[in-house]
Amino acid sequence: MTDAPGALSPLDEVGINDLVEEALAAVAAADSLAALKEARLAYTGDSSVLALTNRGIGRLDKADKPTAGRLLGGARGRINTALAARQEVLEAAAEEQMLRTEAVDVTVPTDRTAGGARHPLDLLVEEISDFFIAMGWSIAEGPELEHEWYDFDALNFDADHPARQMQDTFYIQGESVGAASGEPANLVLRTHTSPVQARAMLAADPPLYVACPGKVFRSDELDQTHTPVFHQVEGLAVDKGLTMAHLKGTLNHFARAMFGPEARVRLRPSFFPFTEPSAEMDLWFPLKKGGPGWIEWGGCGMVNPNVLIACGIDPDEYTGFAFGMGLERTLMLRHGIASMHDIVEGDIRFSQQFGTTGKGH
Ligand code: PHE
Repeated sequence: MTDAPGALSPLDEVGINDLVEEALAAVAAADSLAALKEARLAYTGDSSVLALTNRGIGRLDKADKPTAGRLLGGARGRINTALAARQEVLEAAAEEQMLRTEAVDVTVPTDRTAGGARHPLDLLVEEISDFFIAMGWSIAEGPELEHEWYDFDALNFDADHPARQMQDTFYIQGESVGAASGEPANLVLRTHTSPVQARAMLAADPPLYVACPGKVFRSDELDQTHTPVFHQVEGLAVDKGLTMAHLKGTLNHFARAMFGPEARVRLRPSFFPFTEPSAEMDLWFPLKKGGPGWIEWGGCGMVNPNVLIACGIDPDEYTGFAFGMGLERTLMLRHGIASMHDIVEGDIRFSQQFGTTGKGH
């Protein structure tokens, strides 16, 4: 019996050594994992000279078999060792190459500026203003540093009315001439947006439909639900024949715009010097903790005739309604914000959640 074509004699030590040298040279020359795979197939695969030669062992005399087995086993071992070593080198090189081409240099300077975000309160003021403008109302602003006369006197607070203390007023030192009364008047940081009502009534004749969003100040400590600087929106309508029905209709419409189609308000009797009758307004709030229910949202009422008179409007000819609510509170209810701190601290990551154009844009 002869050896298979291409095969060596399993006892051909010189031939086998040459074969190993040839294989080692091919392994060393393989410059990629693919080339190494080819060399592995060529020198150790099923149809390699080594494999074919190995098959010849079976036909040898029994005495020669161990010699041939040692020869061929040694040859296979040297080739496999070289293959494994080369494999390791080429894999490492491939990985290093990948790291190089896919590397990101995080230290490269960039001139891209971080995207900012408008504060959600700002967006809310804009949304509320749009709402009132869409109803044909106008938007008014007044000074934050306000004459006491506008903040209190014009609004029917007696000089010694406890409400002046009730609102935890920041009084400003120094005196200035009260614009409308002609009397010396103290300056205050306005405690509510209601002084803008008085300014609006003095500035133009009825009919008046005015919304006044703005900043207000009270000497509260900052906590989960309070802040000494906060925002309100005031609504004022003065016209012939206005009633509380118009007030309630307007508030329901506003509540739906802010909180969705299920929203509505309920009025509870209350007291403000500048409205008579006065009411607390509650909002129906399906997401209230502990189950759906009413939640306080603001104050309202029919403009007190004394206020109309102080602002030069004949209460026999005109009636008016007014309302005011806190914007931080509105924002917290609308977005489930648990703490006032998030609203006042100015962390851009908080503001970014509201986008730059706000809800519904
Ligand atoms: N100005 C009142 C407040 O600050 C709210 C209010 C506005 C009440 C208008 C009645 C009418 O609490």
